[in-house]
Amino acid sequence: MVVDRSFVSEETWAKIEDLMGRYPDKRSALLQVLHVVQDEKGYLNYDAIKWIATLFRLPPAEVYSVASFYTMYNLKPVGKYLIQVCTNISCSITGADEIVRFIEKKLGIKVGETTPDGKFTLITVECLGSCGKAPAMMINKDYYEELTPEKVERILESLK
Ligand code: FES
Repeated sequence: MVVDRSFVSEETWAKIEDLMGRYPDKRSALLQVLHVVQDEKGYLNYDAIKWIATLFRLPPAEVYSVASFYTMYNLKPVGKYLIQVCTNISCSITGADEIVRFIEKKLGIKVGETTPDGKFTLITVECLGSCGKAPAMMINKDYYEELTPEKVERILESLK
């Protein structure tokens, strides 16, 4: 099946070609290509999964199973700012639950939801690799550590 290059921008296509050219087995670039397409589209819907599957000559179900395994891939639309709060053990014992409740109250949404203006989506994740500076969260690609409700309030205000 022929890959429709116009599905992504020229810039994204160039990144994909570069990534796929780095590995003898192109499949090694799959996780990175999922990222690049998600960066452009905002999330990976069925069309994106199917397109990537064609690109890698894989069944769409296989690409979907990879994308759905990792929390870093969004399979449905998310807000402009994706807030990922770690609730694994180190963050949990240092107040992650309080942080989650604070954000829910502040934004008026529950975990898994997006604010009506489409600005913020809140999810919880398992370990962001910042265990030494728990509790931690990511907003899009930025890390925020040693969180307190006051600190979170300042961060959210700066994004409004
Ligand atoms: S447990 Fe939260 S960053 Fe590792």
